[in-house]
Amino acid sequence: MSVEPPRPLVAGNWKMNGLKAQTAVLTEILAGYVPALRSRVDLAICPPATLVGRFTEMAAGSAIGIGGQDCHAKAAGAFTGDLSAEMLADMGATYVLVGHSERRQYHGETDSEVAAKALAAHRAGLVAIVCIGETKDEREAGKTLDVVRTQLAGSVPDGSTSQNLIVAYEPVWAIGTGLTPTASDVEEVHAVIRASLGALVGAEEQGRVRILYGGSVKPSNAAELMAVPNVNGALVGGASLVAADFLGIANAYHA
Ligand code: 13P
Repeated sequence: MSVEPPRPLVAGNWKMNGLKAQTAVLTEILAGYVPALRSRVDLAICPPATLVGRFTEMAAGSAIGIGGQDCHAKAAGAFTGDLSAEMLADMGATYVLVGHSERRQYHGETDSEVAAKALAAHRAGLVAIVCIGETKDEREAGKTLDVVRTQLAGSVPDGSTSQNLIVAYEPVWAIGTGLTPTASDVEEVHAVIRASLGALVGAEEQGRVRILYGGSVKPSNAAELMAVPNVNGALVGGASLVAADFLGIANAYHA
């Protein structure tokens, strides 16, 4: 497993934030993605679905990827209010988040539903960013590693490769709270994810899949978190809504 670490990705998840006026944030991010930064780190923004089309147009030719925040497992049909992976791809998206803890928590998504969504992403040619992570109660009960192993095994579909799968480890208790695990806690969990990937993507691909850390990543803690072994980038919520903060996080790779 002594392969070179994968090229890092810093991805922003805007959640249910962003009106047309916030397109200025993307303009600023595009301007700040200078060649020296671009040579070291990939960037992506997952805005609300209402802005995906506009953002793909704005980001065309920039190497900043645009993604959705969720997709339905089916390609089309009578599913009012839902969006398919094909629709996101049709708008120019290249990524989609699946199984974010807010989807699991507020929409009751299970691991097998998340796997079906990730499979839909692959069918449509999108990279699935599969999110996993333990709750505060699970961490306090010492179940973190078991939870992460179970979620990963249940949420990653057959046919996953380093080209169509990214894993995001986001401890639920760290999301939007300002709390983060210690670097050694992150290292422990990411090592378990890396080890578990062997059975899911095969030994050859195991070391190539990007594993992102998410949960209260800010410019002030990014350098420490991004330096942890097996952390191949970040999934950023709140700080991705402010161009200077998002770029400040990406700059952890520029030092
Ligand atoms: P925060 O960065 O706001 O903690 O959110 C993390 C997250 O949920 C990204 O998907």
